Amino acid sequence: MSDAQMGIGWDEARAVNLANWEARVPLHVAAYGLDALRDDPSHLSQVVRTDLAALGPFLADGVAGLDVCHLQCHIGTDTLSLARAGARVTGVDFSPSALAAAADLAEGLGLAATWVQTDVLDARAAVKGDFDLVYTSIGTITWLADLDRWAAQVHALLRPGALFYLRDGHPALYALDESADGLVTGYRYFPNGEPLEWVEESTYVGDGVVSSPRTLEYPHSLAEVMTALLAAGLAIEAFDEGDTLPWRFSPLMEEPSGRRLRLSGATARANPHHVHRGRASPRLSGRPGRGASRPASTGIGRLQPCACGPIRSGGRCPWTG
Ligand SMILES: C[S@@+](CC[C@H](N)C(=O)[O-])C[C@H]1O[C@@H](n2cnc3c(N)ncnc32)[C@H](O)[C@@H]1O
Repeated sequence: MSDAQMGIGWDEARAVNLANWEARVPLHVAAYGLDALRDDPSHLSQVVRTDLAALGPFLADGVAGLDVCHLQCHIGTDTLSLARAGARVTGVDFSPSALAAAADLAEGLGLAATWVQTDVLDARAAVKGDFDLVYTSIGTITWLADLDRWAAQVHALLRPGALFYLRDGHPALYALDESADGLVTGYRYFPNGEPLEWVEESTYVGDGVVSSPRTLEYPHSLAEVMTALLAAGLAIEAFDEGDTLPWRFSPLMEEPSGRRLRLSGATARANPHHVHRGRASPRLSGRPGRGASRPASTGIGRLQPCACGPIRSGGRCPWTG
């Protein structure tokens, strides 16, 4: 990894990352467990099961009957799980190979879906219609240079009063040195407009070699994410931090249940993912990877406590189980 002031522009970074994602698709088609969706008509991806539980308090009937736009949908396993849960789905991604795999999977499962190939930062212009729910989950914003532009796309895709949901790796986790023997920071937490450069021939599932191993990934602090969404016109209804991830960020992670991994070790409590849910403000008509952590900043006036968090309910958080 290098953190040089590279002065890399968005077009170049996007092209580098697109080549990487194109190269990962065949490896992921082989390793994402597509047969589980094919073999069991009621099967939903673990990601979507987690997210539907988190969305439960905000959507009385779940996603059934809703128009859902899934940003950075990859090979469609989560998009099609949302379709199985009753949503009319549109999957957006910049990778033609990922969308071809998604369309193939949809056909095999007999599920209807619309697939749109575009840079997510241009999504509003590329996608037809507007949505009850814009959804993006796990491994998304680190690929994006400009969160203000991203949040503007999100807002513009939402109907007034509609819901946006983001779950992603915690930026404090991403600042940790994944090869250190303990919770030691190794990378930048705060954004400075420049990406971090990685060269990795492996991907997070499967054993194959990624033929275009270079990536350019952007650190985004929690405050940057919040501020972008608020500035775009979303009202943030809930925010949470969890302590599991669906991939192994570092050898320090243990697997307490299913495919969710948690950082082990006595040094600190870690929060590997964060979740935001926001609604497009009805007052506005026009427009809203790696692995351990630091607590979120607090005190933004319009933030509300997590509606289903362990503090309020006295129970277990649906994200962390
Ligand atoms: C980690 S995957 C998506 C996560 C999803 N939970 C999954 O595992 O299926 C990240 C996706 O973002 C897409 N992506 C990266 N940068 C993008 C961009 N600028 N515009 C649209 N899609 C992008 C990649 O093609 C990839 O499919």
